Amino acid sequence: MKKSHLWAAAAAALLLCSSPVMASTVGSSDIIPRPTQSIASKGEFPIPTGGFSFTVKGDKDEALSTYLSTLPTMFKTAAKASQANLSIQITGKGEGENYELTVTPKHITIKAPTAAGAFYGIQSLKQLASLPGATAIAACKITDSPRFPYRGLHFDVSRHFRSPEFIKKQIDAMALMKLNNLHLHFTDAAGWRMEIDRYPRLTEFAAWRPQADWQDWVDNGARYCERNDVRAAGGFYTKDELRQLVKYAADRHIRIIPEIEVPGHSKEVTSAYPELSCSGQPYTDEDLCIGKEATFKFIEDVLDEVIDVFPSQYIHIGGDEASKGGWRNCPDCQARMKAEGLKDVDELQSYAIHRVEKYLNSKGRSIIGWDEILEGGLAPNATVMSWRGTEGGITALKSGHDVVMTPGEFCYIDYTQDAAFKEPVSIGGYTPLSKVYSYEPLEKGLTAEDASHLLGLQANLWAEYVPTDQHAEYMYYPRTYAIAEIGWATPEKDYPDFHRRALQLNALLDSAGYNVFDLANEYGERRESLTPVSHLAKGCKVSYAIPWHQKYPAAGESSLTDGIRGGWTYGDHRWQGFAGDFEAVVDLGDIKPVHSLTTTFMHAPGAWVHLPQMVEYSVSSDGNTFTPVETVWTDLDPNYGKIMMKPYTSTVSNPSEARYVKVRAKGHDRPGAWLFVDEIIVN
Ligand code: ACM
Ligand code: ZN
Repeated sequence: MKKSHLWAAAAAALLLCSSPVMASTVGSSDIIPRPTQSIASKGEFPIPTGGFSFTVKGDKDEALSTYLSTLPTMFKTAAKASQANLSIQITGKGEGENYELTVTPKHITIKAPTAAGAFYGIQSLKQLASLPGATAIAACKITDSPRFPYRGLHFDVSRHFRSPEFIKKQIDAMALMKLNNLHLHFTDAAGWRMEIDRYPRLTEFAAWRPQADWQDWVDNGARYCERNDVRAAGGFYTKDELRQLVKYAADRHIRIIPEIEVPGHSKEVTSAYPELSCSGQPYTDEDLCIGKEATFKFIEDVLDEVIDVFPSQYIHIGGDEASKGGWRNCPDCQARMKAEGLKDVDELQSYAIHRVEKYLNSKGRSIIGWDEILEGGLAPNATVMSWRGTEGGITALKSGHDVVMTPGEFCYIDYTQDAAFKEPVSIGGYTPLSKVYSYEPLEKGLTAEDASHLLGLQANLWAEYVPTDQHAEYMYYPRTYAIAEIGWATPEKDYPDFHRRALQLNALLDSAGYNVFDLANEYGERRESLTPVSHLAKGCKVSYAIPWHQKYPAAGESSLTDGIRGGWTYGDHRWQGFAGDFEAVVDLGDIKPVHSLTTTFMHAPGAWVHLPQMVEYSVSSDGNTFTPVETVWTDLDPNYGKIMMKPYTSTVSNPSEARYVKVRAKGHDRPGAWLFVDEIIVN
């Protein structure tokens, strides 16, 4: 009994330590995203326990009234203007999303030129008033406006379907942090998610899988099933549901951008309608056939229905990662290339994107696509979403195209946010909150003209490894706060201050029923990577029998003996990558006693990064004749899904006198497997 009391006390103490210390008086310095300017004044406004009683002056806005009516415990229309403690004024003079929020000890005023601005003033107030423990707001005058017009969040509802209720819940969170674009990735091999009247097989068949979990589905042959199959898992959105979502988002000043992916990532389409593929066979082609007119009829028919539901100026047409392989052997595609004078398959893809753009432009809409749409020539009015780094985005900016930055290294929140050993299985990578926060979209060297085309940024959550709603929220928050802050606030960075505010916003979302990552107990970067390691081979020359892959050189020739260990991700420029096997010889410079040899490799199976099957060590005094020391085998369960680092160590039982150490690693059998090494440590 006593013992359990003790445990309870200890747990309570732990809870206290790990939750943010919340002052009862909150103020402008507690808001995410950080407001542009705030001037403090005297006193504080006690947060009314019965909610704010408001009046709206100036332009009336129906969306704002609808929105406020959904928050009856926080905002009530004042019975008499004289009883109001919150005045909302929409002046109608000017444009934009800016607002002023003035807090005095007796009254709060939100003044903005537009309903959007007023909405953001309300969000600042709502955030402050909802912070757990907040009892008063310090008097101040906030003058606030966004840095970028596009502040986006992406939902991959193909890999794992999410209900409209889930999307609405996330729209509320997005609004709270002033995000204004919601990108819905509706279509991909894992399932088609939008009702299309003219192509019913998309949602009678290609929206359903015998396995709910994506990995399970892949492991079982990636087949679809009929909607009425007892095993059917997945789903789709009806047009009514989508119209309601569009309205719900619009009332919160969020635009929904639908993505209909062409011509790649389309196996669900080519399986439901094989006549749209090069082979004509289901379960065969990832890509749509560009040679067949039926393909363009399909795309245009689908887009007609999409634009009927979504008022968004932008329609996302995908464009990424088409395999293009089938096009090379398809008579229809080859005939198209000949007829159109296209010299390669990149130009064939570009032909398709141009055609789709022309169609959407004729309907008054614009296309947005992943940066692959640059290959083979960019369509004239396209906006580019730059995900493979920022190079594509920069090229597009320099040619006068609008760009949304979403570089994987900073904005892919399907990557792990903390040490993999304590996190759920992910696709790989390591993108903690600090990394997302460190991103600056406006790179050096861009002119003012280039910058005028930089619309903003977006975080993407691909959902292959994110099966549940709870897991998705865990990945979104708090990293989405950093995207919101970068998109809205001025570019100065202060991570400790942001971290403090992120803990508070986490507490708010947690109290509102969101499953947020436990930022207070973040483990952080791999310890070995934080300080250089000293050893016998440090600074010694390494000769490579197999060259490193050009994409992952790390520090080149000095990488494996520079004393610098890798972090949690192979993408951190400290891990050197090899496509297959690894073999290198370290020259210690002189004959030396060698007691132990350690080489660490990475396992990140979601990214095709695997441990070697075995590592063979041998030593030599002349660099020609090598004596085997030991072969170290892997003992990892091949189904282990998480990221881990594994040292392969040989303790040399008879300390050898040697000048050269050879390390040979046999890569994993999986086709396309990568091998990553950070340091060869000799002692
Ligand atoms: C992407 O991540 N393939 C856009
Ligand atoms: Zn074809």
